[in-house]
Amino acid sequence: MKITVVGAGGNVGSAAALAIAQRDFAQEVVAVDLQINRDGRTLDPAKGRALDEWQTAPIHLFDTYLHGTTDYEATAGSDVCVITAGVPRRPGMSRDDLLGTNAGIVKGVAEQLARYSPDTVIIVVSNPLDAMAYVAHRASGLPPERVMGMAGILDTARYRAFLAQELNISPKDIQALILGGHGDTMVPLPRYTTVTGIPVTQLIARDRLDEIIRRTQFGGGEFVEIMGTSAWYAPGAAAAQMVEAIALDQNRILPCSAWVTGQYGLNDLFVGVPVKLGRGGIREILEVELDADEQKLLEASATDVRSSFAALNRLMGL
Ligand code: NAI
Ligand code: 2OP
Repeated sequence: MKITVVGAGGNVGSAAALAIAQRDFAQEVVAVDLQINRDGRTLDPAKGRALDEWQTAPIHLFDTYLHGTTDYEATAGSDVCVITAGVPRRPGMSRDDLLGTNAGIVKGVAEQLARYSPDTVIIVVSNPLDAMAYVAHRASGLPPERVMGMAGILDTARYRAFLAQELNISPKDIQALILGGHGDTMVPLPRYTTVTGIPVTQLIARDRLDEIIRRTQFGGGEFVEIMGTSAWYAPGAAAAQMVEAIALDQNRILPCSAWVTGQYGLNDLFVGVPVKLGRGGIREILEVELDADEQKLLEASATDVRSSFAALNRLMGL
């Protein structure tokens, strides 16, 4: 199994590459990034980070060989490719403020990946997430089931971590689902949140649960406030979980940004929905029953995603 991560000289990409290697199912992880010039020297961040990560193998006890490059030829024949290339948010910015810059980057990267690995599956991480998944789909020419975005696993992990802290229980015992776009209008679903099968609504008062939901919705912005840029360990781990599900044909049910064709009454956009993930990418989109309020929230979130698609259309004619 060969995996490529583009943007792997940066924070999320390097965290994803290491998390993939630590899961120890792939033979090779190719870390790609640009060369940068600093102080009159040409530096190769992906090569450096991958070398450092490979040298953790005897400590972490994995066999996956990591190496860095700027040359897409080295990515040829990748089974799964992850795109984290692009700029992250800085204080005062929304994810949509990144659209102009990142659309051009993701387009170029997706074209290169599809050229060298025409049978690959692409997982997009770059923001604004749902719009960038669309750019990768169009630029790569890959069918929609082989292009998807990583967000729901991260957003759900944040929600589960906050709930575990609140209840003073293991995060392992919390199951949850978040639908919608990867933005502040994402839709955590308390009706589908359980602690070993016990509805969370029986364990936490509604007003406190609403506070946790709000913290989850603004969970990305919390990091930008605290440290001036966005998170990377949980995003990297979430991307690695998707890569593993596809590479090992696990048929995991995970929330991912997928191309919808009428599910939940939504059409022609990438948006967060529960999917069955296995070899070849998205096997199926699962439709859970929503009540009228939940459906309204999902539609509002989809409207936000559509506005970033409209911006893409103005910018690139997509
Ligand atoms: P970073 O700045 O640390 O890393 C980005 C890397 O992309 C840099 O090393 C840069 O050289 C590289 N890059 C830029 N253009 C490139 C190109 N044309 N080809 C190859 N590499 C290129 O940023 P960070 O924190 O890793 O974030 C990356 C992206 O992921 C951002 O857009 C961020 O908003 C997004 N993100 C998305 C999350 C999600 O849940 N979907 C979670 C966290 C971050
Ligand atoms: C996050 O949610 C910025 O999308 C990124 O951390």
